[in-house]
Amino acid sequence: MYRTKTCGELRLANVNETVTLAGWVQKVRKMGGMTFIDLRDRYGITQLVFNEEDNKELCEKANTIGREFVIQIVGIVSERYNKNNKIPTGEIEIIVKELRILNKSEVPPFTIEENTDGGDDIRMKYRYLDLRRSNVRANLELRHKFCLAVRHFLDSKGFMEIETPVLVGSTPEGARDFIVPSRMNPGQFYALPQSPQTLKQLLMVAGMDRYFQIVKCFRDEDLRADRQPEFTQIDCEMSFVEQDDIINTFEEMTKFLFKEVRNYDLGDKPFLRLSWKEAMKRFGSDKPDMRFGMEFVELMDILKNTGEFAVFNEAEYIGGICAKGCASYTRKQIDELTNYVKSPQIGAKGLVYARVQEDGVKSSVDKFYSPEVLNHMAKEMNAETGDLILIISGPDAMKARKQLCELRLLMGERLGLRDKNKFALLWVVDFPMFEWSDEEQRLMAMHHPFTAPKPSDIPLLDTDPAKVLADAYDMVCNGVEVGGGSIRIHDAVLQAKIFEVLGFTPEKAQEQFGFLMNAFKYGAPPHGGLAYGLDRWVSLFAGLDSIRDCIAFPKNNSGKDVMLEAPSAVDQKQLDELNLRINPSL
Ligand code: AMO
Repeated sequence: MYRTKTCGELRLANVNETVTLAGWVQKVRKMGGMTFIDLRDRYGITQLVFNEEDNKELCEKANTIGREFVIQIVGIVSERYNKNNKIPTGEIEIIVKELRILNKSEVPPFTIEENTDGGDDIRMKYRYLDLRRSNVRANLELRHKFCLAVRHFLDSKGFMEIETPVLVGSTPEGARDFIVPSRMNPGQFYALPQSPQTLKQLLMVAGMDRYFQIVKCFRDEDLRADRQPEFTQIDCEMSFVEQDDIINTFEEMTKFLFKEVRNYDLGDKPFLRLSWKEAMKRFGSDKPDMRFGMEFVELMDILKNTGEFAVFNEAEYIGGICAKGCASYTRKQIDELTNYVKSPQIGAKGLVYARVQEDGVKSSVDKFYSPEVLNHMAKEMNAETGDLILIISGPDAMKARKQLCELRLLMGERLGLRDKNKFALLWVVDFPMFEWSDEEQRLMAMHHPFTAPKPSDIPLLDTDPAKVLADAYDMVCNGVEVGGGSIRIHDAVLQAKIFEVLGFTPEKAQEQFGFLMNAFKYGAPPHGGLAYGLDRWVSLFAGLDSIRDCIAFPKNNSGKDVMLEAPSAVDQKQLDELNLRINPSL
């Protein structure tokens, strides 16, 4: 047996026991005739002591050991003179009697401690070393616990875990597909699933009633802190349900997960529900961060055509937020905010501000407005002396709202209102069925093409499809979309109609989704579901800035695995087998 105890379990109660431990050397310290080694494994750190006076040879051997060597020791547990109350094993140490070096290690490229000196790239290249750090490991432990709790809950509600294939056809979720060439079918390709959407619906047609799967999904899209090209969903589907049945089931599951995994009580009250329209109006976002207020106030009535400011007079939207206590912001601080909203990723044309001071409202557009108009504006915004009003306007209302949303989030951050230990959950409901795509010059499904329109809006599909609302819902936590789903279409005729509105010819719809529409001809039950983003949940629970930190082997921002050096070129032989040719001019 390599060990009798782990490095995390010995306490004062074990004093005088003879134990065998194995693990990695975190640190070696020499002090006088003594050598101390911190021995680490997944469970903790235990201090080992070698005393030159007791055993010179053993102590000399210990002095040859470097960081990350793998060793095994036999020793006696002893009470520590200088106790370390920062670690659970800090009251004891091991007086080592035998030492075996199981494996040497080169000097690691960065220190394997909570706060390492390794930059992102180097830690990704040596991810197996990065994972030895206790805080990174803790994220994976949390992920494991989360998955166990999910399985436990869903099993208790009659959900059955069913695997679906990874080599499939295109599953439209709004991103590009990753495609895989087929050797056996030259010139043909599989697509990796962007989600198991159509398959889980077919499982409902098959009578499985309640399905779930913790499943990898693949999307070729631009990466952000909360996006990976391959990520994990907790994918669920239920038959014979309406929207409220699904919302209630997953609200219960969310409360259970918070309690079980995070020890956080979300209370008995149902989560807030906001319509998409209201969320956009009040927060400029379909995933508002509700940990703080700072709601938008529309100022069109007050500021459009009431002064000489052309930008406002031409605007389709003028809206402001009130930053409490920020009237003291210096010119430099305000310039910083202006540069932020004008940056290419936000895209606003400018920022108007107004300080509410003892002697009145002082604004960057003073010269265009009378003091009465500015006072009226401050009143409308509920601004008090000491507050700073920040206003964004634009010729496109939706874009201007999104820009103001970014500013609201930044101000929330600056004012310390986005506490990672506080959780604000809500459902955003009543999404539009479609959104216009400038790029594609057509209506696109806002969720996906299998989402059911609200029954009362079905007639609008022929007359004004842009106005049709969907039975779709997203769950949002702290400004992050943690899940989304909908009631599905289960009628072949309605499904064909939606494909038509989306610009598919009947032939194209048949070619791509014939399997689903055919299945609907054989008795599809009413059904609906939802998918949670597992990585997003775990990173929220762990208070992480990026979902990368809770994924064992993530991709970097260019979608690369720098450790495996993937993607990479393949041999000519492989290309020949697949009937592929690389265009050398690319
Ligand atoms: P949707 O596309 O909204 O819905 O995805 C569901 C949830 O998955 C997470 N997510 C991601 N997480 C990390 N990286 C990504 N690239 C990424 N993309 C999405 C989000 C999101 O809320 N089939 C539907 C679900 C359904 O209708 O049942 C779907 O996939 O947390």
